[in-house]
Formats: sequence, structure tokens, C-alpha cells
Amino acid sequence: MQLLTTQHLSTTTKTPLARDPGLHVAIISDGNGRWATSRGLPRSAGHRAGAESARRIIEAAPRLGIHTLTLFALSSANWKRPAAEVTAILRLLHEYLLIETSHCVEEGVRLSVIGRRDRLPATLRQAIADSEAATANGTRLHLRLAIDYSAREAIYHAACRFYKVTELSPESFSNVLAEVLRGGSTEVDLLIRTGGEQRLSDFLLWECAFAEFVFLPKRWPDFGAADLASAIEEFGRRERTRGALPDAIAG
Ligand code: IPE
Ligand code: MG
Repeated sequence: MQLLTTQHLSTTTKTPLARDPGLHVAIISDGNGRWATSRGLPRSAGHRAGAESARRIIEAAPRLGIHTLTLFALSSANWKRPAAEVTAILRLLHEYLLIETSHCVEEGVRLSVIGRRDRLPATLRQAIADSEAATANGTRLHLRLAIDYSAREAIYHAACRFYKVTELSPESFSNVLAEVLRGGSTEVDLLIRTGGEQRLSDFLLWECAFAEFVFLPKRWPDFGAADLASAIEEFGRRERTRGALPDAIAG
């Protein structure tokens, strides 16, 4: 994985939103199965192509002003799929961690996994822990892979920890949620979903409270750096009021 230098970053990131500390972009990378089926390939081939797409997007992210990138790799709801498909996805994730960890270290990418780990194979759990430890000092990009992730479950567990506390601020709740999730919990600026569906599917419910959404028909294996750049341009044209008045009216 060849990431571009910071020097390159300063000459090419002209988007008004590529300012410090950078954007948190979250992606629901959907459409792998349909991509494969439409080519007469098994769904697992779609997931492999999807992993390649993820590599390209991770490489492009820092120069587009993204400081945190959260990818929905496996939803807790995906356990309902045939075991063979889930196993193929878990194998790909393991392979990805083994191959990419050293690249992440070289490129300043800090990798975290959010979601529950108790249902993952022990070898994958170990690979996750190793990868997180090896990349802990990365500062160019925080890559968060959501694996066996359910936002509703994370919120529920965070709430359970505090069910007797009466004065809990939203900030401190966010901190608890971050502990439950691991890998931190930060507001999402832009949520992108590929594959044509227009829903959140239990992804980052708390963190997307004020996120901008971009839904694209393109399937995830066909999504490239140029698509990410145009989604960020689209985001740059949106006015984020967070419930206040738009600047033009507020004066
Ligand atoms: C998204 O692609 C990847 C995962 C859920 C792991 P899908 O597997 O949902 O692909 P479609 O939606 O069936 O095309
Ligand atoms: Mg899908």
C-alpha cells in the first residue's frame, strides 16, 4: 500500500473541508455479493474484490483530508448468512490484517477494530490485537474496521453500565460508548453507502446524529478513489447547521 506524502497532501487537498483535524468518513461498503453474482462468480469473489476496493480507499483517504475512516466489514446481523459466506469474510479479514499491518505501520495508519470479539475465531482475535498493537502510533489515518458490529448493541451495553447513574452527560456517555466499542467513538462527518440501498443498517447510530449521507448505486468493488473524492466534494457543498440557522439567514 503506497500512501502519498504529506507534501502531496498539502498541494492537492483543496476541498474546504480538508481542514484540521480532518474528516471522519464512515462507509457501508455494500454490494459485494451482487457484484459477483452479476459476473457469474461466487459471492466470496465479491468479498475478495471488496477487500481490494478497501485497500484503494484506505490509500486515498489521507490525501482527501480524512483522518478517521470507519469501514463496515461485518455486521452482527451478517451471522444470519450461510456459515460458509461468513467464514470466507472472516478469513479475508484475517488475511488482510496479516498482509497489511506492516504497510499500515510504514504509512502511519493506526488500525482499530470496533465491535464484539467473543464470537470471532481465536486466531483472528489474536491477529486483531497484534495489528492494533503494531499500529498504535500511527497518526496519518485512523482506520477503524467494524467487525461483528451492531451500533444498537454497543449503545445498549453502554447504557447498561450506567443504568443507575442519573446525571450522565452526553460527552461522558460517548466516552463509555467508546470503551464498549473499543477503537474510540467520534462524530461521523460523512456517511457513504454503496450498493444502492438507503439505510443505516445498525451502523454508528449515535455517531451519525449530524452526519451527512451520500448514497451511491455503485457496488463496493467498483468504488474507487475518484468516487470517494466526489463524495467529499458533495459533502463540501452541504451546509451543516446542526439545528441552527443556515449562515445566509442567520446573517
Ligand atoms: C457487503 O456486501 C459486504 C458485507 C456485508 C460483508 P454484501 O455481501 O451485502 O453484498 P450484496 O448486498 O448482497 O450485493
Ligand atoms: Mg448487502
